Amino acid sequence: MNEDWIEIEQFARKLLFEAAGNIKTSLYDSITINTKSNENDLVTNKDEEIEKFFYKEIKSKYPNHFLLGEEGKGDELNKVNGIVWILDPIDGTMNFVHQKRNFAISLGIYENGIGKMGFIFDVIHNELYFAKKGEGAFLNDKKIEPLKEVVLEEAIIAINAIWLTKNRYLNHEKLGSLVRKIRGSRSYGSAAIEMVYVATGRIDAYITPRLSPWDFAAGKIIVEELGGLCTTLTNEELSILNKSSVLVSNSSIQKELLTNYIEFFPK
Ligand code: IPD
Ligand code: CA
Ligand code: CA
Repeated sequence: MNEDWIEIEQFARKLLFEAAGNIKTSLYDSITINTKSNENDLVTNKDEEIEKFFYKEIKSKYPNHFLLGEEGKGDELNKVNGIVWILDPIDGTMNFVHQKRNFAISLGIYENGIGKMGFIFDVIHNELYFAKKGEGAFLNDKKIEPLKEVVLEEAIIAINAIWLTKNRYLNHEKLGSLVRKIRGSRSYGSAAIEMVYVATGRIDAYITPRLSPWDFAAGKIIVEELGGLCTTLTNEELSILNKSSVLVSNSSIQKELLTNYIEFFPK
C-alpha cells in the first residue's frame, strides 16, 4: 500500500502538540507515581495517559499501523513488518517527576524496519526536533546543519556517573581515562534529549549500556540524518525490537571511542 507520508507527518505533529500541551497544562497537578523494574524506574499516570492517547488516535486514523510503546498500551510486536510507531510518551520520567524539565516525547515511525521519521519534543523548552529520512533534520522547522568533525580533546560526552564506578556492563577504568581526556562530561537523564544533543553538536557522543527501542527509535533517525552514528557499544546495528547498549556519536570520534575507551561486557 502506498502511504501518504505528508499526511502521516502532519498527523504525528498534531498528536505531539496536543500531548505536549496536555503535559504542560497539567505539569503541577498531582500525579500518581509507581515503580517498575526497580525503585528508581518510575512511571506516572501521565506516561500511561499519553501513550493511550496516541494509541487511540493512531488506530482510529490508521487501523493497519502498529504502536510499540514503553507502557505496554500499544500492540505486542515480534516483527517489524508494516508501519510501526515507536513511542516513549515521556522519556526522562525521573526528571519529569523531580524537576519538571529535561524530558521529551520520543516518536519514531518505521516502515518494514526502516526509520522514516523521527520526532523528539522537548516539551518545556518547546523544541521539536524532526527528521525525515533523506530529507534533512529540523529544529522547530529550522534546518539543522550536518555535524562537523571534532577531536576527542575538545569533545563533550554524555555518560551517567554510575558507569564510572565498578559495574557489570562497562570497564569503568577505561571510561575514567576517557572522561579525563575529553573537554567535559554531562548527564541529562533522558536518552532522547541526549541523542538530539549529539545530533545538534551540543555534545559529541552519548554512551549507555541499556536502552529500549522507544528510547532510541526517533533519535537514531535524527542523528543519522545529520551524519552521526548510532550503534551498539560493540559497533553492531541497533534493532528496533530489542533492548541494547547504545553508542551515539559524531562519526569523527566513534572509532577511537570503540577501540580505546569502551569495553562492554554483554550479559
Ligand atoms: C530512561 C531515560 C534515561 C536512561 C534510561 C531510560 P524513561 O527512560 O532515557 O536517561 O538512562 O535507560 O530508561 O524511563 O525515563 O522513559
Ligand atoms: Ca525512555
Ligand atoms: Ca518513558
